[in-house]
Amino acid sequence: MSTVPAASTRRTTINDLQAATARGERWPMITAYDAMTARIFDEAGIPVLLVGDSAAMVVYGYDSTLPVTVEDLLPLVGAVVRGSQRALVVADLPFGSYQASIPQALETATRFMKQAGAHAVKLEGGRHVLPQVEAMVAAGIPVMGHLGLTPQSVHALGGYRVQGRGEAGDVLLRDAKALEAAGAFSVVLEAVPADLAAHVTEVLSIPTIGIGAGASTDAQVIVWQDMAGLSAGPLPRFVKQYADLRSTLSDAVLQWADEVRSGAFPDAEHTYH
Ligand code: KIV
Repeated sequence: MSTVPAASTRRTTINDLQAATARGERWPMITAYDAMTARIFDEAGIPVLLVGDSAAMVVYGYDSTLPVTVEDLLPLVGAVVRGSQRALVVADLPFGSYQASIPQALETATRFMKQAGAHAVKLEGGRHVLPQVEAMVAAGIPVMGHLGLTPQSVHALGGYRVQGRGEAGDVLLRDAKALEAAGAFSVVLEAVPADLAAHVTEVLSIPTIGIGAGASTDAQVIVWQDMAGLSAGPLPRFVKQYADLRSTLSDAVLQWADEVRSGAFPDAEHTYH
């Protein structure tokens, strides 16, 4: 896939993503929270790395994304930028860091770009955040929208459930069009019926990025620990596991601990003489 520029020194831009979508090329976006995994995903040619506020759960151990702060996420974004060379790095604006006002959103987004080196930001919501989106875009900040199941609103939504069924689908479509008109360069559609996501994708000219939104979106995003089988517990229906890292890591640490206890490690090969 040609989304990533051939010259390995150049990072993917929002124009590259728009052009790939215009050519009908689907592209992947994956979360990353540290330099090592960022490097692996970057070398695999993933064009967009999202430092999601999902870090609240997969890095910090909270049971929702609500508690994570700008101070928590800034160092993770910096690590992902340093660990990658070609990917566009998107910083998620955490709950409470942009909803209050345009100045608040501008200040938060600016910190992610100046202090951590992010190339774009993502925020959740539709018409209620349009003034913030417009102001950020006017300030030169590429903005990714996020509609459907917006986890920062989990309590208002009554849980993690599919969004956009029935008349709610019309509202979502209006929000998607409004985000595009406000200047968003792409929009995540999370946990929405596949036919609604397909319709939104057809109507918008900016790329749609699906997670639990079927096969018709222009791109797909996933939390890497879910895809790689590191996450514990029941996972949403839309997650497909491509590895079982939880078992691999657990087996490795058990074997190492056994060898430490028995004295088999370190052996002569792993000792300086
Ligand atoms: O925080 C996150 O990881 C996200 C993706 C699941 C889209 O918002």
